[in-house]
Amino acid sequence: MSDSPDPSTPDRLTMTLGEAVFSMRAIRRLRPDPISDRDLHDILLAATQAPSGGNVQPWHFLVVQDAGQRRELGALYREAWWAKRRDQGIHGPEDIPETDTIARSAMRLADEIGDAPVLILVCALAQGAPALASVIPATENLLLAARALGIGGTITTLHADVDERVHTLLEIPDAVQVVYCVPLGYPRGRFGPLNRKPLNEVTSLDRWGATPAWV
Ligand SMILES: Cc1cc2nc3c(=O)[nH]c(=O)nc-3n(C[C@H](O)[C@H](O)[C@H](O)COP(=O)(O)O)c2cc1C
Repeated sequence: MSDSPDPSTPDRLTMTLGEAVFSMRAIRRLRPDPISDRDLHDILLAATQAPSGGNVQPWHFLVVQDAGQRRELGALYREAWWAKRRDQGIHGPEDIPETDTIARSAMRLADEIGDAPVLILVCALAQGAPALASVIPATENLLLAARALGIGGTITTLHADVDERVHTLLEIPDAVQVVYCVPLGYPRGRFGPLNRKPLNEVTSLDRWGATPAWV
């Protein structure tokens, strides 16, 4: 497939940028319905249009679609999720308050992630902070393009405990860093609205703490 099948990828991503940015919340409840190759192509092509340090483009997107691979990666993801909780002193569901809806939702995703039709491992081609920093804009592009196609997902991370086994399972070279695991699928819930700090809390003009009049 060429990089620009008809209609072109930009022509398929016609949702306004405003709608995409302001409604792209974390979608953790995903339908098992498959994502078409065309949509995957457009999502990943958008990801590759991101900027990177020196335009080195130190990324690789490992798309995990095979049911068996998803199941095994899902089990490792679940183990990683609980390893991260253990690092925080959380040892089971009883330690997560019902009111902590984000953690509860993330916990459910840890059980279900293998059922998402696609898991994308966003990888950096080198170890270390510069390569890692360069895959972050690409991941945002990926999620925005997915949003424009009605497909949801969220950024997630794994854990050192499972890193070697993830590399082995998916035959990832040792030098490659797995940065994010992004499940994608059609949402069971709805996109947006977002809950974010007010602009005046996070913006200064000319010197730290001076709130601009326009916020
Ligand atoms: C670097 C990063 C790591 C994240 N890790 C996880 C994760 O491991 N599991 C998860 O369910 N969500 C994860 N998220 C999603 C955040 O929890 C989510 O974006 C945040 O709570 C805001 O939610 P909203 O986008 O739905 O408003 C992560 C997001 C980022 C940017």
